[in-house]
Amino acid sequence: MKIGIVGATGEVGRMMIKVLEEYKIPIDTLKLFASKKSTKRTLTFKGKEVQVEELTEDSVKEKYDFLLFSVAAQISKIFAPIAAKSGNVVIDNSSAFRMDKDIPLVVPQINGNLVKNYKGIIANPNCSTIQMVLSLYKVHEKFGIEEIFISTYQAVSGAGHKAVIELQNQLDGNNETKVFPKQIAHNVIPLIGDLKNDNFSEEEYKIINETKKILNDVTIKIYPTAVRVPVFYGHSEAIVVKTSRPFIDISKIKKAMEESQDVIVTEDILTPIDAAGTDFVFVSRLRKIDNNRFSFWNVADNIRVGAATNAVKILMYMVGLS
Ligand SMILES: NC(=O)c1ccc[n+]([C@@H]2O[C@H](COP(=O)([O-])OP(=O)(O)OC[C@H]3O[C@@H](n4cnc5c(N)ncnc54)[C@H](OP(=O)(O)O)[C@@H]3O)[C@@H](O)[C@H]2O)c1
Repeated sequence: MKIGIVGATGEVGRMMIKVLEEYKIPIDTLKLFASKKSTKRTLTFKGKEVQVEELTEDSVKEKYDFLLFSVAAQISKIFAPIAAKSGNVVIDNSSAFRMDKDIPLVVPQINGNLVKNYKGIIANPNCSTIQMVLSLYKVHEKFGIEEIFISTYQAVSGAGHKAVIELQNQLDGNNETKVFPKQIAHNVIPLIGDLKNDNFSEEEYKIINETKKILNDVTIKIYPTAVRVPVFYGHSEAIVVKTSRPFIDISKIKKAMEESQDVIVTEDILTPIDAAGTDFVFVSRLRKIDNNRFSFWNVADNIRVGAATNAVKILMYMVGLS
């Protein structure tokens, strides 16, 4: 296969290279694209150095089996349609196309059927949303989810490579803030993205809207609070769910979650450090509130489960490798 990665030098792009290699995707040609300033760089794939090229319109007009995009939404909005118009399949990690009604928003374990024989742009959901819907899609199938209250504890890597550097610099004593609205080292920031009119943030709206689209149910009520924490890798979520049908015994919820692909339910206390580097969503501290409500702690690697691995698993699903 011929694969192109757009945004190859970023947090998600570099992880895509690693995940493609780990999953042994049969690639003959790998092309890597980033901004002009990165064209002197090389990145390693299967032990070989691959030169980074400047992203141009011509680079995405070439024919690929897949183009994996992990750049800012405004860059995706320019280049992904050009790539798709040239007959390419684009799997885009940005928020640019997620809520477009004609574009599938895909977590392959849940709604991979949407991309069978599909050509064009496919959207990868937001990282916090992916790990939450993976833990909950079977619960929704069996008991019907009415309401979700979620508080997130999101790693700085979710805001890109510059954010990782900012936390490290602040831990080293340089308190300059460029990426985040407040100091993040030794702190937590209860705002991710801009605030909208009604005081919900952009990130909170992504969780609300994308969850409804992926679970194909606009009636679910979702109340998120998205918080940035001084963790490098791994998003955590404290979630309370109300079901429409009583589950009575919490073991029924545990069983539904265990039937969900790539979800591990454990009695251990799981932290972002435990989840980082893996492709699983870990559910711990699962507990019953009443016959229709339960609560749990949900942790996953945001760069892998929430971005790179999801994109590669969409590709694998489409070529019949999963
Ligand atoms: N991080 C996450 O957990 C996560 C999860 C889900 C979705 N996403 C989304 O994925 C996308 C990438 O995120 P990231 O965390 O990987 O960001 P990042 O670390 O900041 O990387 C951004 C990438 O975009 C490239 N880029 C910047 N300007 C460009 C230009 N003009 N032309 C071509 N390439 C350009 C950068 O190349 P240079 O190195 O040359 O600047 C770099 O490769 C974003 O839309 C983000 O919202 C991220």
